[in-house]
Amino acid sequence: MRRKRNIQIDNLELVTAGAKGVAIGRTEEGKTVLVSNAVPGDIVNVQVVKSKKNYFEAKIVSFLKYSDDRVEPKCMHFGVCGGCKWQNLSYDKQLEYKEKEVYGNLTRIGKIEDFSYLPICSSKEQYNYRNKMEFSFSNARWLTLEEIQSGNEIQEKDALGFHIPQQWSKVLDLKECFLQAEPSNTIRNKVKKFALEQGMEFYDIKEQKGFLRTLMIRSNSKNEILILVQFFKEIKEQREAILSFIKEEFPEVKTVMYAINPKGNDSIYDLDVQVYSGDGYITEEIEGLKFKIGPKSFFQTNYNQAVNLYEITRDFAELNGDEIVYDLYTGTGTIAQFVSRKAKKVIGVEAVPEAIEAAKMNAEYNEVTNCTFYCGDMKEIFTDEFISQNGRPDVIITDPPRDGMHKNVVETILRISPRKLVYVSCNSATQARDLELMRDKYEVIKVQAVDMFPQTHHVESVALLKLK
Ligand SMILES: C[S@@+](CC[C@H](N)C(=O)[O-])C[C@H]1O[C@@H](n2cnc3c(N)ncnc32)[C@H](O)[C@@H]1O
Repeated sequence: MRRKRNIQIDNLELVTAGAKGVAIGRTEEGKTVLVSNAVPGDIVNVQVVKSKKNYFEAKIVSFLKYSDDRVEPKCMHFGVCGGCKWQNLSYDKQLEYKEKEVYGNLTRIGKIEDFSYLPICSSKEQYNYRNKMEFSFSNARWLTLEEIQSGNEIQEKDALGFHIPQQWSKVLDLKECFLQAEPSNTIRNKVKKFALEQGMEFYDIKEQKGFLRTLMIRSNSKNEILILVQFFKEIKEQREAILSFIKEEFPEVKTVMYAINPKGNDSIYDLDVQVYSGDGYITEEIEGLKFKIGPKSFFQTNYNQAVNLYEITRDFAELNGDEIVYDLYTGTGTIAQFVSRKAKKVIGVEAVPEAIEAAKMNAEYNEVTNCTFYCGDMKEIFTDEFISQNGRPDVIITDPPRDGMHKNVVETILRISPRKLVYVSCNSATQARDLELMRDKYEVIKVQAVDMFPQTHHVESVALLKLK
């Protein structure tokens, strides 16, 4: 039932999930209603907050029935913390909705028919799968409603954890987080305790002052750890005290690094990072290939699923050793090196100079001699001249960022017409848009979704296209 003004929709059954994990229902008239903070199977009363021609966006007024697919969230911070929003939905259902989302985008936006849709590749680890976390120090801890309503003076205002969504200056003080395996929680909690005992100042985001800024924990599959601490300013004695504490306290920590960051943001890419102890990197290994991981290196955050993703990509490419392969948006050249043993030569292209430097260094380290890496913006570097210099590709592997490929890149691919294209994507909507542009020339043979990020709505998708 619906009132005209100030529209409330009662008894709305949420039947599926859509983009960004939103739950979806339909009014009696058949209009789509997008509802946040709910899961499919819930029956709810909602208030419309945005009315569009084809859909409503609504917020929950009350729950009439909770979905049978709900599970108890594992983390005490669920609902407050911005991450892991699907912790309250069973993993089987998460996979089902991710699979549906990819299929829906490919058929609706991509207008693709008759392709083989392989079952989603699920993640062995549903928790503790991340190899990189960054926590923020703040003197403005996010307070619970009870704390505010109690009227008591707040004693402890320092926090080490995650920024609150839409409330950037506030930080949730994490007691636990199930995204990264131990000793991640132990390190974070002990570092905070030590800092408080030593009277170190936590960062004041609003006023931009204080001392401790961020704590980055990177791990590899052997559970060796790299730590990077960002300080707002140099206080040598305190800096050495906390870095030495980290080095001595945790045997898993192989290297400790730091940066002094007086900027307005936490990005480390333009900072001079210093090594306090160890080599300044840890090493990850895939099929005997080694990759050096420093604090600035890009590396897929779910290691086991990255291996699965790369295997699917290589299987889809069906290489026989004679091909010239291009790996577009190569990052640190991981896919390029992963497929290199099965190709004549591989050309990797990437915009970030540090990533290309790392790609070259890793290839040398691995004694891979048939990969060449170039740095540049894809839409500018991927020219006819570039292709005549490096050879016309038989196979293109492309793994663009969320926005998908620039239309000039799609046009160039169409013009040079490689026999096969393997399109790896972290956003199946833009992947579908790009595939639609190639529909006349390419047939989509098969697609497989890969779940890199359990407990979130994010999903990766790999598609094989063959020249018609
Ligand atoms: C999804 S990541 C690829 C990751 C890589 N395949 C891997 O598995 O490690 C996308 C990459 O595209 C790069 N990139 C983004 N825009 C680009 C552009 N216009 N030209 C070239 N590379 C770009 C990013 O720096 C990033 O490394």
